[in-house]
Amino acid sequence: MDIVLSLYNKEKEAVSFLPHERGFLNNLKESIKKLFKYGKGIVAIYNNKLIGFIAGYEIDECFGKCKGIYTPLYGHGVRSEYPKSLYQKLYKHMSEKWVKNNFMTHAITFFAHDKETIDIWFWMGFGLRCVDSIRRVESIDFYNPSISIKKLKANDIPLLADLHRNHNEYYRNSPIFMPTEDEDPIEDLIKWLSEDNHHLWAAFNKEKPLGYMRIEPSAETFISKHQDVMNITGGFVEPNKRKSGIGTLLLGEIQQWLKKNDYSLCGVDFESFNIVGSSFWNKYFTPYTYSVVRRIDERISDLYR
Ligand SMILES: CC(C)(COP(=O)(O)OP(=O)(O)OC[C@H]1O[C@@H](n2cnc3c(N)ncnc32)[C@H](O)[C@@H]1OP(=O)(O)O)[C@@H](O)C(=O)NCCC(=O)NCCS
Repeated sequence: MDIVLSLYNKEKEAVSFLPHERGFLNNLKESIKKLFKYGKGIVAIYNNKLIGFIAGYEIDECFGKCKGIYTPLYGHGVRSEYPKSLYQKLYKHMSEKWVKNNFMTHAITFFAHDKETIDIWFWMGFGLRCVDSIRRVESIDFYNPSISIKKLKANDIPLLADLHRNHNEYYRNSPIFMPTEDEDPIEDLIKWLSEDNHHLWAAFNKEKPLGYMRIEPSAETFISKHQDVMNITGGFVEPNKRKSGIGTLLLGEIQQWLKKNDYSLCGVDFESFNIVGSSFWNKYFTPYTYSVVRRIDERISDLYR
C-alpha cells in the first residue's frame, strides 16, 4: 500500500487534480489483497524491509490466443529511495517463471508521468496500448444550433441500433485490429443502461441520431472508482459527421450533468492506437496511466524443455 500510494502521490504532483487518496484506500487495499491471493508475484527484500514488488493475474487469452500476465497499477512498485533499476531485476526473475509456464504476453499499467519507469519498461521491449485519462469537470464552450443533445431512456435505445453496431465493428479496423464479438446492439445497450448510475446521451440532427456518449461510475483503475469520478466508457460519431464538434457537444453536455450531480472529475480510457479516439481524448483530458505490452516469441519454449 505504501509503495503504491507513494507512486500515486508522485503522479499527483504532475496531475494535481487527481482525487484525494482517502476516497479509494479501502478499495485499493482490497484489490492488493485479492491480487496476492489469486495472482502471482514476488517481493524484493533488503534488510528485512520490502523495497519493491511485482505481481500479476494470469490470463488464458491475453490480446490473442496465448496466455499472458496482467500487472495492474497497484501490482508493482519500487520504494522511492531505491533505484528504479530494481524493476529490471524483478522482471528478470518473474518473467522467467512466466515464460517457463507459457505466459507469453506480459502487460503492465503504470503512472503516465513516471518517466524513469516508462523508460525501464520501454527498454525491456514493451509498447503502449491503453491510456487512462482524467479532467476536471468544466464547461466546454461550443455551440452548433443544428445539433441537439438528449439524455436517453431505455425506450429510446432502438434509435441507436446502427450507431452502436458500427461502434462495435469500428475497433476491428486498421490500425486497431481488436476482434470485438458480434452482439445485439439494442439488447446490449438496454442492459447496460439498466445498471446503476449508467447514463447515455445522443446527438441528433432533426430526428436523426449522429452520435452518442455514455458514463458510468467505474472503469479500469482504482482511481476511476473514486466517488468524485465518473467515467466515459463509450463514444461514437458517424464517420462522415466527425470533426464538426458533435463529440465536443456530447462531452460538454456530460460536463453540465456531472456539475449538477456534484462530480468533480471525469475519466476515460482508450487504446493509444485508436487514432481519432486518442486525438479527441488528448484534446480534453490528461493521461495519468499507460498500459504497455510485450509479446514473447513462443518458440523459446521449445528450447526450455
Ligand atoms: C472520438 C469521436 C467520438 C470524436 O467525435 P467528433 O465529433 O469527431 O469530435 P469533435 O469534432 O467534437 O472533436 C474534434 C477533435 O477530435 C479529434 N478528431 C476528430 N476527428 C478526427 C480525425 N479524423 N483525425 C484526427 N483527429 C480527429 C481531434 O482532436 C479534433 O480536434 P480538432 O478539431 O481541434 O483537431 C469520433 O472521432 C469517433 O466516433 N471516433 C471513433 C470511435 C472512438 O474512437 N470512440 C472513442 C472510444 S474510446
